[in-house]
Amino acid sequence: MADTATDGIAEIGVIGGSGLYALLDSVEEVRVETPYGAPSDAVFVGEVRGRKVAFLPRHGRRHSIPPHAINYRANLWALRSLGVSRVLGPCAVGGLRPELGPGTLLVPDQFVDRTSGRVQTFYDGRDEKVVHVSMADPYCPDGRQAVLAAARTEHWEPVDGGTLVVIEGPRFSTRAESRWFTANGWSVVGMTGHPEAVLARELGLCYTCLTLVTDHDAGVETGAGVTHAEVLAEFAKNVDRLRGVLFTAVENLPTGPDRSCVCAHALDGF
Ligand code: ADE
Repeated sequence: MADTATDGIAEIGVIGGSGLYALLDSVEEVRVETPYGAPSDAVFVGEVRGRKVAFLPRHGRRHSIPPHAINYRANLWALRSLGVSRVLGPCAVGGLRPELGPGTLLVPDQFVDRTSGRVQTFYDGRDEKVVHVSMADPYCPDGRQAVLAAARTEHWEPVDGGTLVVIEGPRFSTRAESRWFTANGWSVVGMTGHPEAVLARELGLCYTCLTLVTDHDAGVETGAGVTHAEVLAEFAKNVDRLRGVLFTAVENLPTGPDRSCVCAHALDGF
């Protein structure tokens, strides 16, 4: 898989989810073509604390792409083609336990895939190469530490670890599904965490997921259940401090091309 001529434009990628459609004030808009089609939007490239960052709104800048229709392959491919090696993936989630209420920042260390039919590989047979990457530890350990430290610097005590269950959507879960997720010991539920992490790993990228709890999911909630308006309103309340955490995390991420984490070695032997 060859890099394109745009390699070197950015070193860190941020894929913004529901409620985070812009990250930087002064940006260059870069349109990227990929062998997998178009990414969700142009990539917005700018500087954060002296580091070159590429921002991509996951649902498009006007939130026009639902979770199941996102071209995850094109998004990751586009970032890598600009030279990105480390990706931060914030997303809105529902809390599956009473103590994980709106405004909680949880940095998961595991996910469970409950999506159906999403393309989750670049190695789909077209180039006759078979690759099985390890996903035992799906998130970059260095990225997680950078985000956890950033949250503490920004006085937002994070929850360190937990399991994100990713549902197909676009509907929210039934109460029975939600209670089942909780009974399995899972922490938060979202719609976009998969296959982003897998595809990043297949490209040898470091990927770190940050979840912002916007609601109690149906099994915990006693009222009518979660609504999209509630998710966006809670996200809007927290977007400034989330941006602060992302900026400080960008500053904290290790510099230089040398990486010793599991992500950098994902394709060794293939
Ligand atoms: N995103 C935000 N809240 C959610 C929920 N309760 N379920 C799935 N995705 C979500």
